[in-house]
Amino acid sequence: MKVHLYERIWMIAAAAVIAIFLGTIAVGTLAQGSQPPSHVETIDPKAVWTDPRFANRGVEELPDGAVRVTGIAMMFAFQPGEIRVPAGKKVTFRLTSADVVHGFQIVGTNANAMVVPGYVTQFSTVFDRPGEYLIVCNEYCGLGHHMMMGRLVVEAGQ
Ligand code: CUA
Repeated sequence: MKVHLYERIWMIAAAAVIAIFLGTIAVGTLAQGSQPPSHVETIDPKAVWTDPRFANRGVEELPDGAVRVTGIAMMFAFQPGEIRVPAGKKVTFRLTSADVVHGFQIVGTNANAMVVPGYVTQFSTVFDRPGEYLIVCNEYCGLGHHMMMGRLVVEAGQ
């Protein structure tokens, strides 16, 4: 079968574009830890303040050295407003909303999740660089959206 030169060039170019697209997905998934939301756990959005899963808001150290952060997003603040976690340890966030959809993005890290009323948002990450990080709400949630922020402090290992 004869394939003309220009046709062959286009075939190679199209295959290269597909390979690059799949490559970016592979790098994002395997090297950068990007994942689609996959934790389906529901909660009564009217009862988050009395739900035992969210009774102890804050940072909790687990027996294996990992850390769990439990928090609630609401108009227009995060509860707790400041989170302190150790560097280099696995940190699992468990978040929910008391009212509308909020965002939870830790600027300069790969932590970025939607916080949807009725659901528990859960994801894990590791913060390698000690320092202070800004947490912002990146889903428009009302008049005070632009003031909704928190602080993450990553502390160097003891
Ligand atoms: Cu909460 Cu925007």
